[in-house]
Amino acid sequence: MLVTTLLAVAALTRIAQSQQISNGQIFTPGIAIVDAPQPDTPLGGDTLQVALDVSSDGKLSSEHDTEIYNITIFLSSYTTGKNLTITNGTASAGNASLGNIMLQEPGSTVKHVNWIWPDCLVGDGSPTGNSSRGSYNVSIRQNFRLNGTDAYTIFDLPIQVTNSIPEASYRASCDALNNPLLSPEVLAASANNFTQIASSTGSSSSTSSSTSSSTSSSTSSSSGEGLGDLKPDASSGDGIGAGEMLSWGGAIHWMWIAMFTWMISVCMS
Ligand SMILES: *[C@@H]1O[C@H](CO)[C@@H](O)[C@H](O)[C@H]1NC(C)=O
Ligand SMILES: *[C@@H]1O[C@H](CO)[C@@H](O)[C@H](O)[C@H]1NC(C)=O
Ligand SMILES: *[C@@H]1O[C@H](CO)[C@@H](O)[C@H](O)[C@H]1NC(C)=O
Ligand SMILES: *[C@@H]1O[C@H](CO)[C@@H](O)[C@H](O)[C@H]1NC(C)=O
Ligand SMILES: *[C@@H]1O[C@H](CO)[C@@H](O)[C@H](O)[C@H]1NC(C)=O
Ligand SMILES: *[C@@H]1O[C@H](CO)[C@@H](O)[C@H](O)[C@H]1NC(C)=O
Ligand SMILES: *[C@@H]1O[C@H](CO)[C@@H](O)[C@H](O)[C@H]1NC(C)=O
Ligand SMILES: *[C@@H]1O[C@H](CO)[C@@H](O)[C@H](O)[C@H]1NC(C)=O
Repeated sequence: MLVTTLLAVAALTRIAQSQQISNGQIFTPGIAIVDAPQPDTPLGGDTLQVALDVSSDGKLSSEHDTEIYNITIFLSSYTTGKNLTITNGTASAGNASLGNIMLQEPGSTVKHVNWIWPDCLVGDGSPTGNSSRGSYNVSIRQNFRLNGTDAYTIFDLPIQVTNSIPEASYRASCDALNNPLLSPEVLAASANNFTQIASSTGSSSSTSSSTSSSTSSSTSSSSGEGLGDLKPDASSGDGIGAGEMLSWGGAIHWMWIAMFTWMISVCMS
């Protein structure tokens, strides 16, 4: 019985992973879809560019109780020990870290995050010596309400900081943007879902996921489906005013959400 369940979960996880990327769009455990960058891309240039579709590809409309409260993004690496703020909702001087991305490009469902690489990532090619360049995760954190249920999810997208990043006086210092690195176990316990796209470079592990270990369970739904546990401290509605009202209708994303909620209910039972 347990074995059967585990096999079913393993099989579904494989299906889920192959569905995670469709026509270059990367489905996160949440509402946002990543249009760019693609996993494992070598990146450089003047800025890190991330394009997020926050309307679920335009397929969600406002009939359902679904909303993004806020999105924060960090550039983190257990290899280099850095955990740099890309956006935590409050812009820092010179936009070294960015403000609330849900408020930018009003009227557009695709948010283009443009973050100036900070000083410790300057260089060209693979890291040498004690350089901070190399393998990173673009860690996308979503606070959202999906079908009436509040959730917080973490999605790690692996990239390689190996292309040329020119030295420039306007680059922020990494020290000013750096945060403590938390262990995967602590992160998993903090979120309803913690997932990454498997990196093919071998420098990071395969897709891992886990649900929050908190003990509350869904009592309202006759179908037993829900987005996992509510965070006890998640407060509703007030976010930072992004208020993109959304609902669904698109078959692919709907199937994705249905599988996501089903798997959580399997894992919980
Ligand atoms: C977390 O979400 C991903 C989809 O992004 C899914 O593959 C995975 O099974 C989920 N994990 C759990 C424990 O529900
Ligand atoms: C990226 O995140 C995953 C967990 O989501 C972790 O296993 C991996 O080591 C991380 N990669 C780096 C370079 O820190
Ligand atoms: C920071 O970015 C915001 C949004 O793009 C822009 O309105 C503002 O002028 C920028 N501030 C600085 C100091 O560059
Ligand atoms: C590497 O370490 C040396 C000695 O501690 C230091 O002088 C140098 O600035 C470091 N380089 C980088 C890129 O951190
Ligand atoms: C959304 O919630 C309604 C009522 O709680 C439920 O009937 C429906 O199946 C849910 N949809 C999804 C995709 O979870
Ligand atoms: C946001 O990030 C910046 C840069 O790391 C930091 O100075 C600031 O304290 C952070 N703000 C919050 C509310 O965490
Ligand atoms: C990076 O720092 C932020 C802000 O403190 C935190 O929320 C996030 O969990 C950290 N990421 C990792 C991988 O520790
Ligand atoms: C994001 O939204 C959640 C839920 O409303 C809230 O608890 C959290 O403080 C918000 N974070 C930011 C950075 O606005």
